[in-house]
This record gives sequence, C-alpha cells and structure tokens, in this order.
Amino acid sequence: MHELPQELMDRVHVHSHYRDVDYARLAAHFGAEYLERRIGRQLEIYDRVARYGGHPAGRWVKPVYRRGLKAGLWMTGQLERARRLARAPQLVEREVWLENLPAGFDGFRVLQLTDFHFDYTPELAGILKAQLREVAFDVCVLTGDYRGEDFGPYEESLTALEEVRGALGDPVYAVLGNHDSIEIMLRLPEMGIRGLVNEAVWLERGGDRILLSGVDDGHWYRTHDFGPMRDQVAEAAVSVLLSHSPELYRAGAAEGYDLMLSGHTHGGQLCLPGGCPLVAHVKDTPRAMIRGAWAWEGMLGYTSRGAGTSSIDCRLNCPGEVTVHVLRGTREE
Ligand SMILES: [Fe+2]
Repeated sequence: MHELPQELMDRVHVHSHYRDVDYARLAAHFGAEYLERRIGRQLEIYDRVARYGGHPAGRWVKPVYRRGLKAGLWMTGQLERARRLARAPQLVEREVWLENLPAGFDGFRVLQLTDFHFDYTPELAGILKAQLREVAFDVCVLTGDYRGEDFGPYEESLTALEEVRGALGDPVYAVLGNHDSIEIMLRLPEMGIRGLVNEAVWLERGGDRILLSGVDDGHWYRTHDFGPMRDQVAEAAVSVLLSHSPELYRAGAAEGYDLMLSGHTHGGQLCLPGGCPLVAHVKDTPRAMIRGAWAWEGMLGYTSRGAGTSSIDCRLNCPGEVTVHVLRGTREE
C-alpha cells in the first residue's frame, strides 16, 4: 500500500498548486514512509518560514526585509551594479585530483549548476542557455533550489528549467534543495532529468565506472539518508556525492565519499569587498566551505556560489557561477 494519511492530504490540498499531484505515484517511487516525513516537514517549514509561525506580523517580515536590502543598495549607489552582477554568472573550470580514479574517467568533465531560484530572475534561463553553448562537459549535475520562494507554486521555475534543459546535454542528474518541494520529482523525468533522492547511479566510461549519489536536502527538510547507497559506496573506486547544502560534510566524509558537490550558500550573495559574506545560511559549517574548494577528513568538497539569487535579484562582491569539475587521476611524481 502506498497511501498517505488522509489528514496529511487534507493539509496539503489546502494549497491549490498541489491539488493535481499524483501522490500515490510519488509514494510508489519513494516509499510512503519517506514521503510522509518529507511532506510533513514541508508543511512545517511552510508554517514556520512562509507564515512565520502564524504570527500576525509574519507576512510583512519578508517584503520589508527585501525592500530594506534593496534600499540599502540604492542608497549606497550599488543597486544597478548588484543587479547586473546577479545576471552574469562566471564560468569556473577546475581540476579535481582523485586518488583511485579509474583511467577511463581521467579528464571527465562534470558540469555543476545550482541555486537557480528561477522565479526571482526568470531571465537567468536565457543567460545560462547562451553561456552553456560554449561549455564542454560529459555529464550535468544540478544541486537544487530551482524555485525562489520556500513554498508555493513551482511551475514558473520548472518552465525556466525546461528552457535551459536543451543546453544541459545527457545525462542530467538532480537533487532537491531547501526551496524545492518533493512534488517536482514527478516533473523532472518528463524533462529527461533523473532525480536522485537518497539513491545512486553508476556512471560508466570506457569499461570503468564511478558512483554518483544524491541525498535529499539536509538543511531544512533533514530527509537525507545515506543508508540506501552505503553498499555501492563501499564497492566504488570513486564516489561522488551531490548534497544541496555543504552542511552534510561530516556525514559525507564518514560515509567514505571521495568528492562532495554542494551549493546552497550562494557564496554569501551579498558580500563585503574582498568577498566576505554577510550571511551564508549554514549551521556548524566551517567558513572555508561557504564557497569554493575545501577538504574534510579525506573527502574533497566544492561549494558553488550558484547561478541565481534568493530574496533579492542582486549580488554584491560575489558573482554567481557555472562550474566544470574536470576529474583527474592522482598526479605522477
Ligand atoms: Fe539557494
């Protein structure tokens, strides 16, 4: 049986954008127990974040905060520059040296895109499409946050993702971020995108293979689970973990992953000169993991600054990015 409790469904169906979702199909794929937890958490987050726990002033907090940020940028003469920077993601190409990388994967190019938040900057789809025409890669991974708002309609963001889809090649793998509802996992396969929710796939090349795992969001939903992939990680010469937030770095390293790719922080998005972030939205995570390359107990990691923006469509001293990780075998001495 893949049925969710009626009480939960009644709470979900209050929201019109979820009324047509085939929850039985979602439960059949992901398991009713997981789905019940994920949807329960989504509703909790909606109450806590979107409605500020039902506080009467709650609905004003976000608009006032956003206007305050924009007003601050305008008053300091930086608003236009910040809006332009938010629409100019940089191409970052970097090499990742992995001991035990099978020879067939030497030079393998992994395109990572993350944190689109398309409904905040709909024109980002066209910008990325044009930019990716010039980029060579073998596989594309998406590390979450397709929607800008924390809750609510997601169609606009999926339409934008669909616009970029043609530029992402094949195959494309995706995990969910803390702005994404599990419901979009029904739509991704229609675009030829394979969602990874606490599951792994083997990437094959020239008779060799490496493991690509994806965990569910560990920031808000906390519905990540490494268990289902554990045996495959033990078997893999090299294993790569997609986790929206770098906050799962301890677990990733403990599970034996060789490389973890994340986003979520936007690199700070609004930073002081020199790139020092004002806010990064992570708990118990070293500063070094807020953007760029890092390492933890034998596991290499990378936190992308992301392609889009959240809260306001501006970036300050922190450009967005489109990243190509070129896998390399260990250097010969
Ligand atoms: Fe994000």
